Amino acid sequence: MEIHFKVIEHGSEEWKHAVQLREEILRKPLGSYFTAEELEEERNHIQIIGLMDNDLVATTVLVPEGNAIKMQRVVVKSPLQSSGIGSKMMSFCEKHAREQGKNYIYCHARDTAVDFYLKNKYLVEGDYFPEDGIPHLLMFKVIA
Ligand SMILES: CC(C)(COP(=O)(O)OP(=O)(O)OC[C@H]1O[C@@H](n2cnc3c(N)ncnc32)[C@H](O)[C@@H]1OP(=O)(O)O)[C@@H](O)C(=O)NCCC(=O)NCCS
Repeated sequence: MEIHFKVIEHGSEEWKHAVQLREEILRKPLGSYFTAEELEEERNHIQIIGLMDNDLVATTVLVPEGNAIKMQRVVVKSPLQSSGIGSKMMSFCEKHAREQGKNYIYCHARDTAVDFYLKNKYLVEGDYFPEDGIPHLLMFKVIA
């Protein structure tokens, strides 16, 4: 089935669904939720979703920082993971970042997601560090 990615508005119904999806996958297993402050801060960020037959199946948030983009809150709906959707979302984000004049994307990758970023040609910088109680690696990709 075709997947279609797009940029959505902060505060829209689609954004609320995206928050639910990433909360379910990223935060609930840790026993935490997005705080009102975290969600308000997203007003300045770029919201990406992936739709399959009108079903929201993937999402991420891009944070503009000078000539770079920080990619965060990357998720694909559980039953659809490992079927290439996450990698297609990476390509969409890279194209979008390039169109915004950015030349560098980076993320804090959970240890369990490092292979996914390596597969998408991200490089590792430095050593593991703790974030949200989970080991993370700084990973980046030059997209210019
Ligand atoms: C990580 C994630 C976004 C990748 O998207 P995806 O659509 O599953 O990835 P793709 O199908 O494009 O690529 C598959 C690769 O992703 C990785 N992957 C697959 N399932 C994964 C999972 N549940 N968690 C982490 N990485 C996973 C594997 O390296 C896999 O390679 P393989 O199929 O050769 O084993 C998605 O699996 C996910 O939402 N995981 C849970 C949330 C998460 O860890 N987010 C990243 C936080 S930094």
